[in-house]
Amino acid sequence: MNMDEKLHFADLFEEQDLSGRLLDWYARSARELPWRIGPADRALGVSPNPYRVWLAEIMLQQTTVPHATRYYLAFTKRWPTIDDLAAAADEEVMAAWAGLGYYARARNLLKCAREVSARGGWPTTFDELRKLPGIGPYTAGAVAALAFGRRAAAVDGNVDRVFARLMALSGDWKREKLRLKRVVEDLVPEDRPAEFAEALMDLGATICTPKSPNCLICPLQDLCAAREEGAPERYPIKPKKMPKPTRLGHVYVLFGADQTVMTERRPEKGLLGGMLGLPTSPWSDAFGAPDFPSNANWVEAGEVRHVFTHFALTLKVWRAENDTQSFDTTRTEAADGLPSVFAKGLKLAGR
Ligand code: ADE
Repeated sequence: MNMDEKLHFADLFEEQDLSGRLLDWYARSARELPWRIGPADRALGVSPNPYRVWLAEIMLQQTTVPHATRYYLAFTKRWPTIDDLAAAADEEVMAAWAGLGYYARARNLLKCAREVSARGGWPTTFDELRKLPGIGPYTAGAVAALAFGRRAAAVDGNVDRVFARLMALSGDWKREKLRLKRVVEDLVPEDRPAEFAEALMDLGATICTPKSPNCLICPLQDLCAAREEGAPERYPIKPKKMPKPTRLGHVYVLFGADQTVMTERRPEKGLLGGMLGLPTSPWSDAFGAPDFPSNANWVEAGEVRHVFTHFALTLKVWRAENDTQSFDTTRTEAADGLPSVFAKGLKLAGR
């Protein structure tokens, strides 16, 4: 990293009062979100509930605010405190998480809840938060700032984008990310770290959006090097991703008596680990012959596709009925508690 340049931006933004402008904008434009407290409460020194802040941050990784909100409201209604969540059965939490994806996160969520509950409450510093299961640098920064008023930065992909544009970063993206993180950390105001973090989230979500940023209403428009160049949407400049391989397989939907459907608990390790699933074949580069889980009148119902972190999966969906056997899972429980790829298969089979 070129230290001069880093200092250049840190000094420049300081001089231009980037933080102050951002906070003024936020005071007028903050989104109302269920896990946030309002500016009036914040001004009175009220802090939001750390359990709620943490839960929202874990859910909001890699999903949208509207999608996460449904789950956040359901979780906080069912498990209002961290002790309630810590005491919940694994299967219930996993089923409630179904549809949010990234199921290792749900397992870490429970681990973290149990650890915090056992130690009698949350640690309040970045370094201690960072040691908890499922809490990486982003989440530790977010919880430290939002829930405990610590001077910490919460730098995620949205903040990366905002600063890649402000600084018109065109070098190696890995290094540029480290560089911008230092700049953001320098900018966090001592007295209002929570609002600073929330303001950056809102700016990234509502103005400095990935495709068509709304520069005309941006409070930082005249500080933005990418805007000055004329094509801010060009940033961030990231290395091209390798296309994901597609794996192929079969999924079996066997409807039983009493509105039930055959399901199985997936192994703890591996894709969708620990989740309830439908029986499947192994997946590979070709469909191969189906290996049905029982004798029945299997009929092909179509295909479903789902994109995971490292590969895309296409499954041929087979359906059959067996009126003489009743399974442990009802069709309704399956529709609500299965991960998306299976929920899609179930729907196609005509749940
Ligand atoms: N994205 C990540 N964390 C968020 C939060 N707390 N509020 C809104 N969007 C977010």
